[in-house]
Amino acid sequence: MKVTKAEIVISAVAEAQYPDDNLPEIVLLGRSNVGKSTFVNTLIERRRLARTSSQPGKTQTMNFYRINDRFHFVDMPGYGYAKASKTEREKWGKMIEKYLRNRENVAMIFQLIDSRHDPSEDDLLMYEWLVHYGLNPMIIGTKADKISKTNQKKSLSHIAKSLNLRSSREVILFSAETKLGKEEVWEHIEKVLK
Ligand code: GTP
Ligand code: MG
Repeated sequence: MKVTKAEIVISAVAEAQYPDDNLPEIVLLGRSNVGKSTFVNTLIERRRLARTSSQPGKTQTMNFYRINDRFHFVDMPGYGYAKASKTEREKWGKMIEKYLRNRENVAMIFQLIDSRHDPSEDDLLMYEWLVHYGLNPMIIGTKADKISKTNQKKSLSHIAKSLNLRSSREVILFSAETKLGKEEVWEHIEKVLK
């Protein structure tokens, strides 16, 4: 998809603020600092639409971006952000959970996992929770430019194995640096938007 229009609609913290234009929503989930906001920017080729940071905990609200007036990307706060207070983390957790369980616009979920490491406990819990509610996410292994080709293969099978996926082909390796995976991700998005 050629992105000709990309704009922030709202940084929401509550249901009443979700956009009401009824567009399909494509959701980004993952640990803090895994590269969710960068993933959005890379896909739409806008370097700074979604705010990113080398410090975890950058995104603290549910950010809705309207793309080509066709769909929204919903960039979520990361889970497992250690520096946030327990109350804060619980608040974000509830906000995300409420959104995922009630929002009818959800067309697709990308769960991002750092391809350099085995999925964390939080990653596994999130994944299982999503599957339990029938919200099967598509798994993205991020920061693939930081590992060698050999380790990329290993990483794919590690992630697939930890999540009990049928095959490592169900994981897409992604890099904001080399754009690895970008076209494949767009193909999936276009398929669900049809
Ligand atoms: P929170 O908003 O805190 O939940 O984090 P996030 O998941 O949105 O991560 P963000 O996109 O802000 O990226 C975190 C850091 O990882 C930034 O310094 C990015 O530049 C870096 N990063 C993201 N994707 C890639 C990638 O594909 N390759 C490399 N080398 N760095 C990346
Ligand atoms: Mg972010």
